Amino acid sequence: MRAALIKDVQQVDVVTVDDPAPGPRDVVVQVAACGICGTDLHILDGEFAPALPIVPGHEFAGVVVAAGPAVSELAPGQRVAVDPSLYCHECHYCRLGHGNLCERWNAIGVSVPGGAAEFAVAPAANCIPLPGHVRLEDAALIEPLSCAIRGYDVLNRQPLGAHVLIYGSGTMGLMMLQLAKRTGAASVDVVDLNPQRLATAVTLGCSATATSADELDRPRGWELVVDATGAGPAIADGLGRVAPGGTFLQFGVASYDTRVAIEPYRIYNKEITITGSMAVLHSFERAAELFAGGLLDPDIFISDRLPLEDYAGALDRFKRGQGRKIQVLP
Ligand SMILES: NC(=O)c1ccc[n+]([C@@H]2O[C@H](COP(=O)([O-])OP(=O)(O)OC[C@H]3O[C@@H](n4cnc5c(N)ncnc54)[C@H](O)[C@@H]3O)[C@@H](O)[C@H]2O)c1
Ligand SMILES: [Zn+2]
Ligand SMILES: [Zn+2]
Repeated sequence: MRAALIKDVQQVDVVTVDDPAPGPRDVVVQVAACGICGTDLHILDGEFAPALPIVPGHEFAGVVVAAGPAVSELAPGQRVAVDPSLYCHECHYCRLGHGNLCERWNAIGVSVPGGAAEFAVAPAANCIPLPGHVRLEDAALIEPLSCAIRGYDVLNRQPLGAHVLIYGSGTMGLMMLQLAKRTGAASVDVVDLNPQRLATAVTLGCSATATSADELDRPRGWELVVDATGAGPAIADGLGRVAPGGTFLQFGVASYDTRVAIEPYRIYNKEITITGSMAVLHSFERAAELFAGGLLDPDIFISDRLPLEDYAGALDRFKRGQGRKIQVLP
């Protein structure tokens, strides 16, 4: 089969590799579409993935074409979205129900071959059947949505009636916007350096947009500030915008060496919470249901569909901030 391969740092190609074979409780999924996200760029930079080479792609959906001998619940022809999380189910954190912090954490497309390929292997337990009205290619959005839902899960208090400020108007910032509206935010403001990205936030009904939060009029700050950029300057700025009693959510993935200053006095004196959320935890099923229910308009979220053979071009396009969610179609 054809598959994208990140061979080494900054080296990506599309190559021919052996067709995958399922283990006893695995299925083989013929990939319909695979989304590209910041994590793929981190892997290309030599961060996040434990080892290279790797076939990337952790956001995908497709059709089951083969099943291992111990799989009875999924048959060839079944349309599925795939949760890429591979927890060991045995370590300290898994036993605590915190599989996304697994000591032997693995994920499809990060540490085992992923969905930027014609076929991918996934445990049957990770495959969520899709209802007939969901377009298969669109269902590749369920994985990023399940991360955004995990982001809301970690908040101690739901932002009911809260004023929310989101840094980053890429796919993840826009999903956080949709969920903030859905969970009863009083207002949702979005900051991004890229005006084209902000235009989409307006289309999706945010309250205000700006290229700097200085332009936004909220002297008391925001009860919930979300970083969906991973960029040090945005994080540093956002930390100072949290209202007394409010929460800062570190959702964006910063590079390993990013450092920002915090103000311990203000964190103490204004009871500010700083928290993070990592990938998917018990949130894929809910993401699939919300997605099928129309939470997101895929035609707004997905801007580009490129052939798998142009995987490098798709990564490059994403890196330059062009479009929104970019997919490759094997
Ligand atoms: N926590 C998780 O589980 C999880 C899951 C998926 C993605 N992520 C991370 O979330 C982040 C966003 O993902 P995405 O796919 O939307 O990425 P993206 O690159 O499409 O969007 C990021 C946006 O941030 C903007 N930006 C960059 N620097 C900025 C600054 N200083 N101020 C304001 N805006 C700035 C960019 O213009 C861009 O529009 C990435 O870091 C990604 O790795 C985290
Ligand atoms: Zn992703
Ligand atoms: Zn574990």
